[in-house]
Amino acid sequence: MSKITAAITAVGGYLPDFVLSNKVLETMVDTNDEWITTRTGIKERRILKEEGKGSSFLAIKAAENLIEKSGINPEDIDLVIVATATPDMKAASTAAYTATQIGAVNAFSYDLEAACSSFLFGMSTASAYIESGRYKKILLIGADKNSSFINYKDRATCIIFGDGAGAVLFEPNEEGLGLQDELLRSNGEGREFLRAQRGGSSYPINADTFAEGSHYVFQDGKTVFKNAVFNMADVAERILKRNNLTNDDVQWLAAHQANKRIIDATANRINLEDEKVMMNIQKYGNTTSATLPLLLWDYEKQLKKGDTIIFAAFGGGFTWGSIYFKWAYNS
Ligand code: UT7
Repeated sequence: MSKITAAITAVGGYLPDFVLSNKVLETMVDTNDEWITTRTGIKERRILKEEGKGSSFLAIKAAENLIEKSGINPEDIDLVIVATATPDMKAASTAAYTATQIGAVNAFSYDLEAACSSFLFGMSTASAYIESGRYKKILLIGADKNSSFINYKDRATCIIFGDGAGAVLFEPNEEGLGLQDELLRSNGEGREFLRAQRGGSSYPINADTFAEGSHYVFQDGKTVFKNAVFNMADVAERILKRNNLTNDDVQWLAAHQANKRIIDATANRINLEDEKVMMNIQKYGNTTSATLPLLLWDYEKQLKKGDTIIFAAFGGGFTWGSIYFKWAYNS
């Protein structure tokens, strides 16, 4: 019997309607469209405005889009993983609520958090379950409502982040398609450079600290940038080498969308032409856990069965990695 591999067999996505453009940001903080465009590649991002709606709202919409497109019965889903850095609430699983709302009544579910690498690490988790033979249908959703912890007076962060969600279905494959290899890493010394310090268990928010705003995301952009460029390019290059792949063997790079200059640097390191580099940062900004599945959602029609995709991500923690993947269907 051939070895079971874990393939993606369907994709869905969702973006909230409200568009926050660079022009509007110019009226909110000391910045300008030209600076944001040249330094990050971002023109606009989407924001979920409605009161009381969190990442689960985005996750449910993306999952419903996948279910409608693929025609699968949600009752057949075994596991729902929600990769997110912005869960709806503490203590209550966002994935559990999402699974119930989409009718995945026979599934178990949990959240997975590794900042901007959450979805990439989730691909590894979902694939391992499929390869084990124990589960047949795993819904992996990347969903983040970043606007919930961004300070819209801080120009170092508010220009970058947006809200959104993407979903993929993992199923067993007997043609050897799907996840081929992975190289995943973390280094906890990075946490001082990108974090929302208050609101977790180390430093709960209280009335005295609220005003200082340390519950919002802070980043030392330059340090994060340098580490992202070095590490994402490094793992992408290493995964190609150890699988004896040249740039001609690779059809696509799907890299975390945090800054176009970081994506370009990763593509340059592995000598990939621009046409092979998936890019949607201009429309959505950095949607954290949602960037990779939203790339698949946007490029799905161009992907061919057997295409090699190199995934790469870098995020807070620090966390980072790369996955060598073979696409399993034509749409
Ligand atoms: O997804 C998780 C990982 N996150 C990332 O990968 C983000 C990584 N970091 C970055 O993308 C970039 O560091 C930023 C986009 C955040 C900043 O770009 P940068 O090229 O590193 O800019 P900088 O912080 O070095 O600042 C350069 C200049 C400074 O002015 P001076 O000192 O040269 O006069 C800043 O004060 O640009 C100024 N500046 C701005 N100007 C207009 C910083 N932010 C802004 C802004 N608008 N929003």
